[in-house]
Amino acid sequence: MTIPLHPRAEAHGKVIVLGEHAVVYGYPAVAAGLPQGIVLEASPRPDPRLPITLTIPAWDLDLELHAGSDHPVARACLEVLAHCDGPVTGWALHGASALPARAGLGSSAALTVALARLVFGPDASIDDVVAASLAGERVFHGEPSGLDSRVAAQGGVLRYVRGEPPRSIVPGAPLPLCIIPSGIPRSTADQVARCRSRLEHLPSVVRPVLIAIGQAVESGIHAIEHGDLDTLGVLFDVAHGLLGALDVSSPALDRMAADARAAGARGAKLTGAGCGGCLLALAGDAPDAAARLTAAFPTLRPLFVEVAAS
Ligand code: PMV
Repeated sequence: MTIPLHPRAEAHGKVIVLGEHAVVYGYPAVAAGLPQGIVLEASPRPDPRLPITLTIPAWDLDLELHAGSDHPVARACLEVLAHCDGPVTGWALHGASALPARAGLGSSAALTVALARLVFGPDASIDDVVAASLAGERVFHGEPSGLDSRVAAQGGVLRYVRGEPPRSIVPGAPLPLCIIPSGIPRSTADQVARCRSRLEHLPSVVRPVLIAIGQAVESGIHAIEHGDLDTLGVLFDVAHGLLGALDVSSPALDRMAADARAAGARGAKLTGAGCGGCLLALAGDAPDAAARLTAAFPTLRPLFVEVAAS
């Protein structure tokens, strides 16, 4: 007999609306859960001594979870299962996802949250699920802020400060988000290290940039709550500039941000770790806003998400 699992679990994807990188240093961030997340299903293998398998066709993943595996996804999943006192053998896990992997949309947190829920069940507390997810996220990211795991587990729009309980934000008007995957791979750990190195090199200059990002988050939350999308768009543009000052943008992301603005977006910024991953644009309210953004990125398949108002 192997340790039982629940048959099915889900988790959200996430997009950081404002506050990436500064959140690592204790400043606030605001993020939104994405309905596109993951559904993970577990079925027993014919022999309970067989290794656990993990198949997620959308992410080209087909793995056996062996102790000693050097695949980061296998190692992260084993860390989560160990944290939860879950099984080490005997299960086939199958995942379905509409999120691109490794694009800063919380795919790894969604996976580790759903895996913890397969062990703990649907009634597990969010805190327990987040703690288990973080055991896996540390394999991917070294020093995760915890934001991804929280949003993957909880969904909605959240103000998040490391080590504090998150606060739910209720938008005063629907948020027309447009997420544009650059197709350029990046490593969160590398980008966090890049930002840290700039901070250590020039602390008196770079610390105020982090503080300004935190201020942009507070102003952004006010704008979200009051449905002031024009101000939110300006804050996206400001945040993109500040993230450039932290050395985590790239010429490709800068060009994409300019293209999104030229196509009528209220504002645009990189989202997540940067130097690749995704651009986040706040669409305008013209009837053809989505069509113009889609036309501006003909090869990149923008993802439109309307975050509901109260
Ligand atoms: O992994 P990404 O692309 O969602 O970036 C994570 C956001 C950072 O603030 C850069 C790191 C963190 O742990 O919050």
